[in-house]
Amino acid sequence: MASDLYPTYYNPLIEKPERPMPNEVAMVGAGTIGPDIGYYLKSALPEMKLYLVDIVEKPLEDAKKRIEGYIQKAIEKKKMTEEKSKAVGRDIHYTMDYGEIKGADLVIEAATENLEIKRKIFAQVEEIVSPGTIITSNTSSIPAERIFSGVKRPERTTITHFFAPAWRNPAVEVITWKKVDRKIVDYLAWMFCATGKTPIISKSEICFILDRVFCNWCNDAAMLLDTATASQVDKVAEEFVFAGPFYVLNLTKGNPINVEASTLQMEEGQHYRPAKIFQSVESWVTAPTGSKVDVPDDIRERVSERLLGVLFSQSFDIINRGIGTLEDLNLGCQIGLGFRKGPFDIMRDLREGETRRIIDQFQKDHPGMPGPKGEVSAYLDFKRHILVDQMNGVRIITIRRPQFLNALNEEVNDEIWEVLKDGENDPTVMGFVITGYGGRAFCAGAEIGKFSQLLGDAEASIQYSRDCSKLLRFIDGAEKPVVAAVNGMTLGGGAELAMRCHRLVATRNAYFQFPEVTLGILPGIGGMVVPYRRWPASAQVFHDMIRFGTRLSAERAMEIGVVDRLVDNYAHLIASAVQEVKDLGVHVEHIHDGPVEIAGMESVEPPMAGKLLLSREVVGIISKAIEDAARATTFEEALDVGYKAFGQVACTEAAKEGISAFLEKRSPEFRK
Ligand code: COA
Repeated sequence: MASDLYPTYYNPLIEKPERPMPNEVAMVGAGTIGPDIGYYLKSALPEMKLYLVDIVEKPLEDAKKRIEGYIQKAIEKKKMTEEKSKAVGRDIHYTMDYGEIKGADLVIEAATENLEIKRKIFAQVEEIVSPGTIITSNTSSIPAERIFSGVKRPERTTITHFFAPAWRNPAVEVITWKKVDRKIVDYLAWMFCATGKTPIISKSEICFILDRVFCNWCNDAAMLLDTATASQVDKVAEEFVFAGPFYVLNLTKGNPINVEASTLQMEEGQHYRPAKIFQSVESWVTAPTGSKVDVPDDIRERVSERLLGVLFSQSFDIINRGIGTLEDLNLGCQIGLGFRKGPFDIMRDLREGETRRIIDQFQKDHPGMPGPKGEVSAYLDFKRHILVDQMNGVRIITIRRPQFLNALNEEVNDEIWEVLKDGENDPTVMGFVITGYGGRAFCAGAEIGKFSQLLGDAEASIQYSRDCSKLLRFIDGAEKPVVAAVNGMTLGGGAELAMRCHRLVATRNAYFQFPEVTLGILPGIGGMVVPYRRWPASAQVFHDMIRFGTRLSAERAMEIGVVDRLVDNYAHLIASAVQEVKDLGVHVEHIHDGPVEIAGMESVEPPMAGKLLLSREVVGIISKAIEDAARATTFEEALDVGYKAFGQVACTEAAKEGISAFLEKRSPEFRK
């Protein structure tokens, strides 16, 4: 692993820095991305003071309109309450007077890609702000050494590179360079992560991690215009990305690729020369994403191989030179650049031979372009969905899937399972903590898209439940303690995982919920069994959760014994969970094996979850399964009841409607 990029922990929230969240932030440059970064920070930290600084009035006026528009939209879409919106809109200062930013704790420059102007801005900013202020630049390509070589205190300066649209796109690159104090890099990663972003640490090389991919992807796309039209290239690219390169270039208004490719060409070689067409064309004729575009097979093949070639070439190079980690590059391409799968996932799907053929051909067509060093397979063996850290002999497993609120699927389960299996046999490992990335979710349940293929197939659904249970059955039998560090919403399969852990520690804002019934399905991998066997006196609480989707707050969960410790913040959460592992030592309790007596269930008519009318059929299947599972003579048999009930529910009309409604982002209408 790349320890110079992550010398302490991969999960940036594990250690809370001494420096608090910023009270005042100044964005220098109100033109393109500045207001979006400012709006993201203001929505995450509504009480913060925000300054938007520019040298002319017009962008400031436009920025004000833009931010007000975002707030209005957020209210309309119910993403923000009226009350919060007032705080978000308050204390935003649009100014041409640099003097006003003297109290800023953090200054982010997003004004220009002109190096000389940047350097002038930083010289000016340094004169105004206090010595402790962190100063960063939002450049997509210029290394930190060049921007900050003239500043007086380089140790508090670095690059923070955001991606469009910066108020929503979770990716942000934080650059580590030789003069920056590592504490500043860690602080920024912590701050971004705690405010909803996914920071990835990059070395200070031209274009860092993600713009190496994006710039070269677009540049090669432009070179393909001798054989295909822009909309044909976009169409072929859509197999790999949500929007093709030309569609995205049109959105960026202007052409960052020419400058970036020219810089790469000057510094790394002729093979990076920008496509000639960029000298004369700035906007492209494209078709809307998803529309029909005819692409003859031979053109499709050529475009596809070339795009994959450049993607693979850059990916190998980034890893070979230690610019970023496999994990960050693979995830960053998805969340930052809109790839459907990470480059190393695409290679894995294609398999080694085909990947090798594509990269060899690409290097032949494009002499000088980088390729793999050694076997392709050496790049594919890493954990894609989890981060693994070590603290005092305890392995901390963080589910990092920000694009799915840390939802689970078989691959995630397998990755966690492998870490547990490996640690069980390692005498230096005392136990495990499982947590979720970021402050919002421990885990939002099973990845719902996966259910579509199971609908209507009872056997496959039962088998799916059994397969998903593999990890949980391992925890049941584990000799070393596994503690859940519950850091936010804990839904469905996430609640099943947390409740299966031997102890639970939670932050005060966390909650548990089984929303399956609102999707027309049920929690089939222990959700209808484990809570009753572990905390039978609270059966009524679980009846309501499972049949009507009610929430269990962390505080209430503490009162009824589900949660063992409540804490205020993420860093305490991890420290407390590690302590729980130590306290448990080798005394892991196993789940009650015999039948269990539980409170009866009253029938409720009509069955509702808030304003949603639930499926009576599904509520009936759930109620029966809960009772049958409680009566089952062994834990194993009780689990079996759950798997079978999942098979049954997967064949209902309600399941079809519930899952489709979620995927189509609408409310379901259950008929029976
Ligand atoms: N599976 C797959 N994707 C999920 C997911 C899950 N279980 N839970 C959330 N996501 C995705 C959302 O689809 C969304 O993706 P998008 O940005 O591509 O649209 C992203 O995570 C962010 O969630 P979003 O819905 O925008 O956040 P929100 O604050 O509006 O709502 C929830 C959060 C958790 C209430 C909502 O996402 C939800 O109901 N999720 C399903 C929870 C569930 O039923 N889990 C049990 C499954 S068995």
